[in-house]
Amino acid sequence: MEKIILDCDPGHDDAIAILLAAGNPGIELLGITTVAGNNTIENVTRNAQAVCQVAGIDVPIARGASVPLVTPQIVSEDIHGDGGLDGPVLPEVTGELDPRHAIDLIIDTVLAHPPKTVTLVPVGPFTNIALAMRKEPAIIERVKQVIVMGGSYTRGNVTPSAEYNLYVDPEAAEAVFRADWPVTMVGLDLTHQALATPELQDRVRAVGEAAGDMEISQFILDIWGFIGKTYEEVFEFPAPPVHDACCVAALIDPLVMATEPAHVAVELHGQWTKGMTVVNFADRPGMHHSTGVAAELQDHRTLVATELDWPRFADLVVDAVARLTAARSA
Ligand code: BDR
Ligand code: CA
Repeated sequence: MEKIILDCDPGHDDAIAILLAAGNPGIELLGITTVAGNNTIENVTRNAQAVCQVAGIDVPIARGASVPLVTPQIVSEDIHGDGGLDGPVLPEVTGELDPRHAIDLIIDTVLAHPPKTVTLVPVGPFTNIALAMRKEPAIIERVKQVIVMGGSYTRGNVTPSAEYNLYVDPEAAEAVFRADWPVTMVGLDLTHQALATPELQDRVRAVGEAAGDMEISQFILDIWGFIGKTYEEVFEFPAPPVHDACCVAALIDPLVMATEPAHVAVELHGQWTKGMTVVNFADRPGMHHSTGVAAELQDHRTLVATELDWPRFADLVVDAVARLTAARSA
């Protein structure tokens, strides 16, 4: 069992990450923490609660940072809609939030478990993770690993060079990549391969139809309907990428993606490149090594995701939907 804390900003693909984590028997979802990113902290927290309510997921949910560390806040209404999870009808939230701030839930949970057993999965801006490290540095050697959705080594989606989670809070991302813990970067290069194609949507629909219970399947189809439309309009994608779920999938089945060791630096000052991940792969020669900067970039401490096994990924999503749907009638 992989014990995880999912730190998210739902968000359409965040919602699928929650469902995959809760629906897979290999994952123990210790808690969900929220961070301002795709939308305000109020809305993304409400959305996390709503997703859990629809799917019958009972885990602690703690509200986190409402603004990035340094950079002024932005939200992503053009992609995720005014509420951050537009498309599906969200239920009126009835459950209570965990009384702690997200960073305290993260610290308490990591320290309450044996060393190297809890994995952090930030799939929004990394603000909460950076604040938790700052408040309790002991978590750095205590967590098993950090698997992040963010960054890219080929292209951005906010600017030509910066991916959204990095662009929103680059200072937090810099702290997370620099810290001495194992980090896997699941960036756009990988997540743009994880498309919710018509085939995957048909399979999710079929799960609900076979069970005679469309609640969860329809919720997901409505999520993909909305985000698919914006991805088509804004990015000319044929189907929406399920970015954040890729991190959870990698924990369930490492064969779902290939990774390569690399050094990842975060650009904090560039006029056109703020939030860019500058990735120096260990096994891709071509750099001239005689400068001091080059020496630092030889510390290939991060695993960077490169290739997705889409059929394996799709099977995991369908399986989780089937299990969550079956659990509703159990
Ligand atoms: C990332 O930004 C958000 O819009 C998504 O939820 C994902 O985490 C993709 O760039
Ligand atoms: Ca996200």
